[in-house]
Amino acid sequence: MAHRDLPAEVLLTQLEKSASGPLTSATGADPALYWNENIATAEDSNIFRKDWVCPGLAAEIPKQGDYLTFSIAGEPIFCIRNKSGDIKTYSNVCRHRMMQLLDGTGTTSKVICPYHAWTYDLNGKLMGAGHMEKSTSFDRRKICLPQIRTEIWNGWIYVTLNPEAMSVSDALSPLHDVVKRYKMENYVPVLSENHVWKTNWKLLTENFMEGYHLPIAHKATVGAWFALEETVFPENNYDSFTYQTFVKTGNPIYGQAHPHNINLKNEWRNTSVLPTVFPTHMYVLAPDHLWYLSLRPKGVGEVEIRFGVAIAPEVDATLSDADERAAWIDSLVVFFEHVNSEDRQVVEGIYAGSRSSFAAPGPLSWLEREIHDFQKYLMRRLCPSTGV
Ligand code: FES
Ligand SMILES: [Fe+2]
Repeated sequence: MAHRDLPAEVLLTQLEKSASGPLTSATGADPALYWNENIATAEDSNIFRKDWVCPGLAAEIPKQGDYLTFSIAGEPIFCIRNKSGDIKTYSNVCRHRMMQLLDGTGTTSKVICPYHAWTYDLNGKLMGAGHMEKSTSFDRRKICLPQIRTEIWNGWIYVTLNPEAMSVSDALSPLHDVVKRYKMENYVPVLSENHVWKTNWKLLTENFMEGYHLPIAHKATVGAWFALEETVFPENNYDSFTYQTFVKTGNPIYGQAHPHNINLKNEWRNTSVLPTVFPTHMYVLAPDHLWYLSLRPKGVGEVEIRFGVAIAPEVDATLSDADERAAWIDSLVVFFEHVNSEDRQVVEGIYAGSRSSFAAPGPLSWLEREIHDFQKYLMRRLCPSTGV
């Protein structure tokens, strides 16, 4: 049977074989794992409706009434900062006739539906609705936007549809011990963009998790900044995340602590941590900046990407001149957009390759250790009885 005809159960059996064995004998997943519709359906219910996803940084909505829109498993949501300064998340669907309430990002004192102007306060309660006085089933006080579970962790917003999910602070506690020294909650956001790439979301996640491609696919940008053989992975496997650390030993333009940085000592001053919080939140946390990707699958062959950049506060503080600040940020953003374009080329290329009848999973390198971690995660979620 050609691999393109394999049923989901066979694909998962193949994944389990690689995930449950040692990394030394692990292989990539069967190509059809990236485009089988039944696998995508299982991911929707067992991953995207169960785990935490990240709409962005809390500092992207710093003031009362600031909001950003996002979605979980196709559910439109928005995160908004209320009068108490807390970030709350609500369904972005009007309780009248289902119009989407907010779009993009912005600031507002109340949420007004663009269809018939039903108006909600910053806690999702309906404040007013015109011409409803003759409607006997209408009771304004009973109408509120459904609230979505939200947790702020080290400056990140996490949301989930699952009331039973373990709290982010418990799930990511071992990661907190690694990243807390950077105080990333103080980083200053300078960019947030949305893109759509033609690839499966898992291919982009896997691409982020391996440095093997850096000297080749990124030779024009960050490729020479790392000594690959010094990549460090965690000793343990964790349910909800994995990471690697790189010491930037080359001559990096970005990635070293500013002289005014007093949080980071010794080798940490030029070390970057690259966490992947399963399933779709990944970031490069460097002493002077961070950039992140947060993914949302759009069918099997497309992925929506939120790409954001933030800079360390001591870097931000040195950019007091507005023109100088704009120029500095501009060149940083252009640089990382260049890195992204390099990744786009490879992850779209892999997806196209995965549709070939000659495509087959090859063996993984030790540098692809996190892909093996990801395989274990996928097995736990998609085939929980296997105990991987
Ligand atoms: S759909 Fe929102 S006010 Fe009618
Ligand atoms: Fe890359």
